[in-house]
Order: sequence, then structure tokens, then C-alpha cells
Amino acid sequence: MSKFSVLFVCLGNICRSPLAEAAFRLEAERLGLAVEVDSAGTGGWHQGDPPDPRARAVARRNGVDIGGYRARQVREDDFVRFTHIVAMDGDNLANLERLRPPGAPAELSLMLAHAGRPGAPVEDPYYGGDDFGVTWADVHAAARGLAQALRDGGA
Ligand code: 4NP
Repeated sequence: MSKFSVLFVCLGNICRSPLAEAAFRLEAERLGLAVEVDSAGTGGWHQGDPPDPRARAVARRNGVDIGGYRARQVREDDFVRFTHIVAMDGDNLANLERLRPPGAPAELSLMLAHAGRPGAPVEDPYYGGDDFGVTWADVHAAARGLAQALRDGGA
């Protein structure tokens, strides 16, 4: 059984958190870290949808196929199932704090805190014209930091 389990959370679970999941899977594998990984959205509008085509494309450019991922909404039992829940921005984090059942053990954090940028958001790329290169660079840097911290004993 894995010692750690990590859930990445954004708003829609079709852009940022699937990329965070993919980048973290890459980094965990590279370090030989046995860890359960998933992603979810605080909103439910995209439930069952595959990732945004722009997210699929940037993942593919970086060697990962995320075409099989499907969006889902955060659930109450996520706060018990996962040791770590990582939010992409402050709104996501505030919503998670509100949804968290009293006494649930999951440790909540902001994604870019794991890249030495505490308080900084992974900007929502959904309405932007960017090719998601910035999003990938952000989530990849944080995924690497988090994977190293877990390997070294905690985060
Ligand atoms: P994500 O991006 O939270 O990174 O998945 C968004 C996806 C969909 C919407 C907003 C942000 N939306 O409003 O539908």
C-alpha cells in the first residue's frame, strides 16, 4: 500500500489539475515513489468530460497521454482517502477548507508552494490564449518539488 495519496484540485478538472496529476505521475515514477494520484474539480460542470484539448496537447508534447482522464467533482470522502490535497489557486483552497469535514486528516496546500512560490496561483488558463505552456511549466515545477518532499519524508 502507498504511504501517500495525492489529489490535485482546480475548478473544472479539465485544464490545470489533470496536468498537475500527469506531471506528478511522471515525477513520482522518476523517483520510484509509490503513491496514489487523482485529480478533481470543486465545480461539477465538466463531470465525465475528458481534459480540454489544449491540456491534452501540452501533455502530449511533454510525453504524457491524458486522453483517458475524466473529470469529476471533489467528494467528502476525498478528505479521508487522500493524505494530501493540493489546490491550484486560493479560491480552490478556500472552497476545499469549506468542504472539509471536521477532523478529516488530509493535508491541504497550494500547488506553487511546492515550487517555492507560496501564495502564488496556477493561473486559470481556460479563457486565455496561452498554449498552456506556462500552466505545464508551473505544475511540473511544483510536482517535482512535491515528489521530492514526499520521498524525503513528508511535505
Ligand atoms: P480548470 O479550468 O479549473 O483548470 O479545469 C477551467 C475549466 C472550466 C471552467 C473554468 C476553469 N469553466 O468555467 O467551465
